[in-house]
Amino acid sequence: MKQNEHTLDRRAFLSRITLGSGMVLAGLPLLSFTGCKRQDIPVTHYDPENFQADIEIDLTAAPDETTILPGNKTRVWRYTAEVRKGPQSTVQNLSGTFTGPVFRFKKGDKVKIYFHNNLPEKSVVHWHGLHVPQEADGHPRFVIGTGKTYISAFQIMNRAGTYWFHPHPHGKTGPQVYRGLAGLFLITDDEEKALGLPSGEQDIPVVIQDRTFDRDNQLVYLRSRMDRMTGFLGQQILVNGKPNAAFDLAPGTYRFRVLNGSNSRIYKLAWDDGTPLTVIATDGGLLEKPVQKSYLLLGPAERVDLFVDLSQKKSGSEMTLKSLAFSGGSIGSMMGGGRMGGGMMEGSSRGSSSAPDNGDELTILKVRTGTGTAKATPLPGRLATIQRIPVGDAVNGNNPRTFRFSMQGMNPVINGRSFQMTKVAEDEIVQLDTTEVWRLVNENSGMMGGMMQMPHPVHIHGLSFQILNRTASSVGWNTIRDGFVDQGWKDTLLLMPRMKADVIMRFEDYPGLFLYHCHNLEHEDLGMMRNYLVKTNNS
Ligand code: C2O
Ligand code: CU
Ligand code: CU
Repeated sequence: MKQNEHTLDRRAFLSRITLGSGMVLAGLPLLSFTGCKRQDIPVTHYDPENFQADIEIDLTAAPDETTILPGNKTRVWRYTAEVRKGPQSTVQNLSGTFTGPVFRFKKGDKVKIYFHNNLPEKSVVHWHGLHVPQEADGHPRFVIGTGKTYISAFQIMNRAGTYWFHPHPHGKTGPQVYRGLAGLFLITDDEEKALGLPSGEQDIPVVIQDRTFDRDNQLVYLRSRMDRMTGFLGQQILVNGKPNAAFDLAPGTYRFRVLNGSNSRIYKLAWDDGTPLTVIATDGGLLEKPVQKSYLLLGPAERVDLFVDLSQKKSGSEMTLKSLAFSGGSIGSMMGGGRMGGGMMEGSSRGSSSAPDNGDELTILKVRTGTGTAKATPLPGRLATIQRIPVGDAVNGNNPRTFRFSMQGMNPVINGRSFQMTKVAEDEIVQLDTTEVWRLVNENSGMMGGMMQMPHPVHIHGLSFQILNRTASSVGWNTIRDGFVDQGWKDTLLLMPRMKADVIMRFEDYPGLFLYHCHNLEHEDLGMMRNYLVKTNNS
């Protein structure tokens, strides 16, 4: 019943945006395909100018400077936003930091976001995790130059959850995010509101990133070719753009919106005092019920919402969120379980940056319980309904479409291919209104295979998927095996070395060209990204 209403809702909306807009993407670059006939390109109608939005926002990306470390200010790039129409509470610009803003929307909202590019180079904004039309998805073919504006117009169809946005220009996503461009996109809905979860000041963004600074407090990005291949690893952990993060919180309960906004670093989160992490949501929103974890792996772009209960804590007590040591995070760690000692890799990868390796222990933030009181809401035993997609619904349940993420020499590739702006291969074409199982595989072969094993956080645009299974057999597996929360909706899956995972998803509402890629941003920029095409019956 619920499901039907939802579907009808969407249909109605779709016909509304299609009606009256005879305009067929005038001014957009002509798409070309290999292994795909011209008539296969779905005709889409996207008319943001005439889209009737409830909420309109101006989002500007521009250079700025801000205090991060004591002493000199740091030059950054940042997003700032203003509400043009609708409630002011939709936008929260975080002061004194480059991260943000935080957007807060409700499911069903019709939104129009005017992106103004005041950067000295091309950019485009991607709404990570959102189910939106291809023209609103921030594909790199839609980049705009300095001084230009691009309008994203869509209705919010996603479940309540923690989504985010960041730039997506091809070859430049890593450096643009690194300079500071990333914000949270929070969605609520009626199901979530009825739970009375911690809200307002007790709903706290926790964007975890790592950065390296030079002596003048300026950001240092990649230093070597090896940095690029492994992905950038910073010397210092920032939370919401600040080093040595500490939250002083009154006794009460809190919701932490944790986003791994790092370019390539993976965190193995745990409280230092042995308190389990209480996970209430993953990428695509609330779980059915809370899940307790002694530790949690969070790859780049993944999110978890944590329920943090300080209601019984004494004033003055402190707990630290750490990233614990683990294996399998870095190149060479497959060769005997540790990082390569004294070899060629050692010299070139670590010597130059001296940042902690992926898998080294780190401190993320401290939570200090202060005085006073904050609201304490009980942790609901049931959070939401998740309808499992039956494997029987998939057109390829017995024969999953397989994507191999691997290194080909120095190049990270998917099924041996690199990104091509508007091209799809025959095996990257799916049919609108179908369900599929995709098998994601991280396995290298050949002589260099073992040595070049690296994690690949795999992300699929335009939808959320469910994880059917995940298996791995690798050295160090026992250091991470309990760290995955696979019960909920996801849009990014941390594919560790020698891991294989089957995910199931439905292609609905929006035909067109969407991306799937490794969210290690350096890998993405190196071309570990491809298009998939959602094709309609009559195209
Ligand atoms: Cu965070 Cu292509 O995405
Ligand atoms: Cu995305
Ligand atoms: Cu990768």
